[in-house]
Amino acid sequence: MPRTLVSFIVVLAACSRAPLAAREQVENQARAAANRLKSALMTELTEALQRGGPVAALEVCSGRAQTITRATATPGVRVGRTSHRLRNPSNRAPEWLQATVDAAARGGSVEPGLRELAPGRFGYFEPLVTQPMCATCHGTDLPDELRTAIAARYPQDEAVGFKPGDVRGFVWVEVDSQ
Ligand code: HEC
Repeated sequence: MPRTLVSFIVVLAACSRAPLAAREQVENQARAAANRLKSALMTELTEALQRGGPVAALEVCSGRAQTITRATATPGVRVGRTSHRLRNPSNRAPEWLQATVDAAARGGSVEPGLRELAPGRFGYFEPLVTQPMCATCHGTDLPDELRTAIAARYPQDEAVGFKPGDVRGFVWVEVDSQ
């Protein structure tokens, strides 16, 4: 093989590896942000449930969830939670994720994913599966007192009737890598 062709191939290989490495780095960064949000919410929720039971925990969650979510953001990284059946209407999905949320509602794919939204801008998402603990506030047959407390804060609540194993929603992350 002529030397020029060999070096051309080497250069090509190097070029195609660079964006892949960048993509992997973004994905790691996004996954770390999603984990930070999930574990912060989970800690707060578990403690509140143990301390005061579901109605008290609901108050903690409704007061703190948005603050915790905003606090998880870092420069160039936005984080949120959404669902096809929302409790808080301000958790509506960003436009780029809406089709995935709709597909999940119809029983479609619920694998985590990363998309390039624009050059250097990425959207990452992962499904949140209902666990038995989640059904306390998102399940079927909630106690009256809890139902009343939910209706008082979230008159348009659609986030009940989930069973363990159901996709409850998504965590999403937007990363500006430039
Ligand atoms: C103590 C009651 C409670 C428990 C337990 C609970 N949630 Fe929620 N959940 C809420 C409240 C309240 C909101 C609305 C928070 C807000 O205002 O952003 C909410 C919102 C959400 C949202 C954001 C989308 C939406 O509907 O607004 C997702 C996703 C979610 N919960 C998933 C879960 C999962 C998964 C679990 C179990 C790991 C869980 N929740 C356990 C009370 C609860």
